[in-house]
Formats: sequence, C-alpha cells, structure tokens
Amino acid sequence: MRTVASDPGYGTVARLLHWGVALLVIAQIMIALRAWTLPVSDAKLSVLMQHRSLGLTILVLIVIRLGWRWTHAVPPLPRAVGAAPRALARFNQYLLYALLLLLPISGLIMSQAAGVVVSWFGIFDLPNVVDTDPTLLGRMKFVHLLLNTVLFAAIALHLGGALRHGLWLKDGVFQRMLIGRSATRSNDRRGARRSV
Ligand code: HEM
Repeated sequence: MRTVASDPGYGTVARLLHWGVALLVIAQIMIALRAWTLPVSDAKLSVLMQHRSLGLTILVLIVIRLGWRWTHAVPPLPRAVGAAPRALARFNQYLLYALLLLLPISGLIMSQAAGVVVSWFGIFDLPNVVDTDPTLLGRMKFVHLLLNTVLFAAIALHLGGALRHGLWLKDGVFQRMLIGRSATRSNDRRGARRSV
C-alpha cells in the first residue's frame, strides 16, 4: 500500500534507482547511435546485442522503480511551486515512465519481427512473442524511432526543470535527489517536515 507523502526527501533506494536508470539510458542511447553509424557487420550485430540486453535491463529496473514508487511516499513539491509547473512536472514524469516501458517493448517486438533471437547478454534467450513479420518490423522501427524522439524532448524538459530548481529557484528540490545529500539538510532550511 502507498504510504502517506510526508517525507520531503527521496529515500536511498529511490535515488539509486533514479541515477542508475539515468546512467543506463544515456549509455543505451549512445550505444544505439553507435550501432546506427556502423555498416552491417559483426561489430554492428555485437553493438545491437548489447543495446537489446541493456534495454531489457532498463525495462526490469523501470518495473522495479514503478513498484517502489507505488509503495513509497513521493516527497511533495514546495508550496511555492505553481500549479502549471507542478502539473507539467507530474505529466512529464509519467511520460518518462511510459516511454521507458514502451521503448524496450517496441524494441523487443521489432527485433523478433526481424527474426532475431533476443538474448540477455548471451546468458539466456527470451521466448518469442511475435513471429518474423516484415510489415510489423517496419511499423515497430517507426514506433521505436518516434518514441525515442519524444524521449529526447521529455529528457530535455526534465533536465531543464531540475536545473531551474537547482540553479535558479534553489528550493532544495534538485538536492533531494542527489546521492549523499540529506533531504533534511536541503529542506529543513524552509521548515519542511522530515519523516522516515
Ligand atoms: C530504454 C530502452 C531503449 C532505448 C532508450 C532505445 C533507444 C534506441 C535508439 C536511440 C535507437 C536509434 C534510433 C532508432 O532507430 O530508433 C535504437 C535503435 C534500435 N533499438 Fe533500441 N532502445 C531501447 C530498447 C531496445 C530494446 C529492448 C531492443 C530489443 C530487444 C531494441 C532494439 C533496437 C534495434 C534493433 C534498433 C535498430 C533499429 C534499426 O535497425 O534501425 N531497443 N534504440
């Protein structure tokens, strides 16, 4: 059951999941762009294998993160944050979760529609959810690219919001996601309550 949102800071697990997923997504995009620039070759296939495996790892971590978020308090934003930026930040967070679920799923369907046996770092193979299908492959390539384009915009908005809080508003919202920073220190200055 979801607990009451009274803690002004994120817990250690939430912070580790946040930065772990952030680093993996950056690595994932760099690996994908590297694969894009390579001609069809063994090197490209190997890079794509890493891309698929990392994407599946991100999918698992996002499911864990959603479970954690569902069962743990989400620290409230300071009262001074207006209704519009509050709604935009919330919408963008849900959008990021949705994209990081749909991207790996579309990638998985795309690869299997191309007839590829998708494995996780060569350790085990995933069961086939679709048969080889050139039409589906074309559609999923388009979907994967479209979702990536939206992801870039959502990441830019998320970063912009974080930097606005960290550098301009200086209201402790940015600090409460940093590892090694106490939520108490960053929020107590404004008289926010601290629980757990
Ligand atoms: C968070 C997860 C993922 C992100 C951020 C991501 C990102 C990207 C990006 C930026 C590209 C290059 C642009 C494009 O063609 O769309 C790409 C291509 C690709 N991705 Fe992903 N991807 C993810 C997950 C996956 C997964 C799980 C698979 C397969 C199991 C996969 C399979 C592919 C393939 C096969 C391509 C090359 C498409 C082509 O041949 O043009 N992706 N991905």
